[in-house]
Amino acid sequence: MFSSRLSFADSTNALSKAKERRRIAGLPIIDMADSNPANAGFVWSLTELSALLRREGIQRQIPEAHGLPSARTALVDYYLARGVRLTEDRIFLTASTSEGYAWLFKLLCNPGDEVLVPEPAYPLLEVIAALEGVVIRPYRLVQLAGEWVIDPSSLTASRQTRAILCINPSNPTGAFVGRRDRDLLRGFALKNSLAIICDEVFLDYVAEGVISPGTWAGENQIAHFVLSGLSKVALTPQLKVGWIVVSGPRDTVQESCRRLEHIADAFLSVNTPAQLALPDLLRRAGSMRSAINARVKQNEMTLKNWAEQSGHGCTVLHRPAGWMGVLALPSGVAEERFLLNSLEEGVWAHPGYFYGMPTTIPSVILSLLLNPLQFNEGLKGLERALKRS
Ligand SMILES: Cc1ncc(COP(=O)(O)O)c(C=O)c1O
Repeated sequence: MFSSRLSFADSTNALSKAKERRRIAGLPIIDMADSNPANAGFVWSLTELSALLRREGIQRQIPEAHGLPSARTALVDYYLARGVRLTEDRIFLTASTSEGYAWLFKLLCNPGDEVLVPEPAYPLLEVIAALEGVVIRPYRLVQLAGEWVIDPSSLTASRQTRAILCINPSNPTGAFVGRRDRDLLRGFALKNSLAIICDEVFLDYVAEGVISPGTWAGENQIAHFVLSGLSKVALTPQLKVGWIVVSGPRDTVQESCRRLEHIADAFLSVNTPAQLALPDLLRRAGSMRSAINARVKQNEMTLKNWAEQSGHGCTVLHRPAGWMGVLALPSGVAEERFLLNSLEEGVWAHPGYFYGMPTTIPSVILSLLLNPLQFNEGLKGLERALKRS
């Protein structure tokens, strides 16, 4: 009776089972994987948010496939402030970045077609692709002098390949898609007639001292789609607004937009109050983003000091951007065994393999958003688990 798109739902793993057992037993867990900003205290005040959402226009729907013009104009300004001039007609609002992916897979792929995805990367991509009947084919990011870059030998296309996906900057490594890799992807896409999908939800969370290569919106040689959304840009995942920026040669852009309009029109999934509030949310989100950057920096410093002092041989990988810390475990410590021990010590975190981290770097992925006291407590649990591992 059921579609095989959901076959991934049948797999469980030892870690999730152990977590569930602990939850059912009512034992406490410090969730060091939690990257929901509200859980870490980053919420808009009720007064401010209610005022932004309660305004003229919320009583009716304007069936505009692209999304409301006022919201798209605000996004044009957002990109202008980041050095790229766009026009409103190349922007589509979606209910989230994840929905943006789903629409682009509908636009570009037939069931069974492939998209190339970076590895390591955010694991939700696999799920969204499966739900759209799309197959993912990984290409490898490797560490070269401390930076993550594409391994060109892993970049291969078949007759079924339709698009290459990249994440600028990546979750969990925080690595940007730099100039060398943009050239590589552009050349590969041109040669194989592929589109490029570039996820930029963490673009504005650049670590101190790092020079960001900036947005890749506005590319003009190939069919190109940038994805982002308010969940990270304005710390409001609950408002459910994302967007797609369409770029590329003029004919391709026109045809992409014409087809995307049909997809958007079939769902009209973006809620009106959030669209109306978007210009103000974007204008005021800067201070929240600064607060997040400060928190992430503080926890990263704590993590680095802990790794240095613990004497177990853990190291913290360089983080150019984003909210996550990658803790490389000492060689010989297995991710899963270590995290099962951590759970017994009351700490949950994600193993690197959830994100397709190379097996040569056994690692644990930690959210750097946590309240610092909780983060410290979590590290104490990891310390005890390390001693046992
Ligand atoms: C790289 C990346 N892209 C997209 C998303 C999903 O964003 P949204 O909440 O807008 O669907 C996430 C969520 O954490 C993410 O890490």
